[in-house]
Amino acid sequence: MSHPLEELRASAMTDIAAAADEQALEAVRVRYLGRNGSISAWSDEMRTMSKEERPIVGKLLNEARNAVTAALAESAERLRASKEAVALSNIDVSLPATPVEFGGLHPLTQMLDRAIAIFRRMGFALAEGPDVETEWYCFDALNTAPDHPARNEQDTFYLPDGRLLRTHTSTVQIRTMQSAPPPIRVIAPGSAYRRDEVDATHSAQFHQIEGLYVDDDVSVADLKGALEFFLRELFGSDTEIRFRPHYFPFTEPSFEIDVKSKALKSGEKWLEVAGCGMVHPAVFEEVNRARGDDAYDPEKYSGFAFGLGMDRLAMILFDIPDIRLFAQNDLRFLRQFA
Ligand code: PHE
Repeated sequence: MSHPLEELRASAMTDIAAAADEQALEAVRVRYLGRNGSISAWSDEMRTMSKEERPIVGKLLNEARNAVTAALAESAERLRASKEAVALSNIDVSLPATPVEFGGLHPLTQMLDRAIAIFRRMGFALAEGPDVETEWYCFDALNTAPDHPARNEQDTFYLPDGRLLRTHTSTVQIRTMQSAPPPIRVIAPGSAYRRDEVDATHSAQFHQIEGLYVDDDVSVADLKGALEFFLRELFGSDTEIRFRPHYFPFTEPSFEIDVKSKALKSGEKWLEVAGCGMVHPAVFEEVNRARGDDAYDPEKYSGFAFGLGMDRLAMILFDIPDIRLFAQNDLRFLRQFA
């Protein structure tokens, strides 16, 4: 005949197996293992037993308690898992998810990244300068006469302290040469500001990529080669490129560059994209004066410089009809480039 503790253990197992949820299981635990539970009651009873009987009952009691505890834990886990399975089965995976908004790079940034990558391959490093400048960096050092119309308040934004918003990125030519001797091979992308009437092709703030290459024998052929390579990499190998004579105070000779390509929406039209030329000796001389040395000796060194209209390039490349779109933050526009 089996011991009553063994019967108790067997009935606990049956009750555990029958418990349908967590509350029912907890009730079973209290009934057998709780402070007044029937298995626990045997601990008290042991104190009244004889020396011979005590170890036998003690062993049975331990076994019963361990077996019931393990069965309770196992059953609790089974109930938890089946509850979770029910919850998961109620999830409709075909429902649309919470939308995640993705940003994209601004078309001007994309344009800039492409331009930098091309110039990098030609060995140009990145240079920069401030948007707020002195008249000296913007005009004097660039051989621009005191009465040149560009200095006019009609064209240039002046600050109350006499400084100005740079009207071109050519200021960075001067800053670069001031801080390092030749050879120099840099590009300097950045904003420029003019008091233009704002329309589809003019904005008070626009963007340029300045370029400067100074070494011991830089020629117009180098200038042409570098810019033709850049423009064909950007717009395609069948792009036609035209250098038109022009005037800038800080270069001599000076040119404007036009491009034309059947691959572009503009088709047969010549489009102006840059100003450029050979660095004027007067610029080297003014840089030397500011440096206090003869590092840029115009007899020894020559160089070319260019200023590419970045907004213009991006408008051509992405077929954008109005420069104002760049700054309006209209998502319908921006998403087309994301
Ligand atoms: N700074 C000139 C402009 O803004 C462009 C230019 C740069 C011309 C360098 C010659 C050399 O129009």
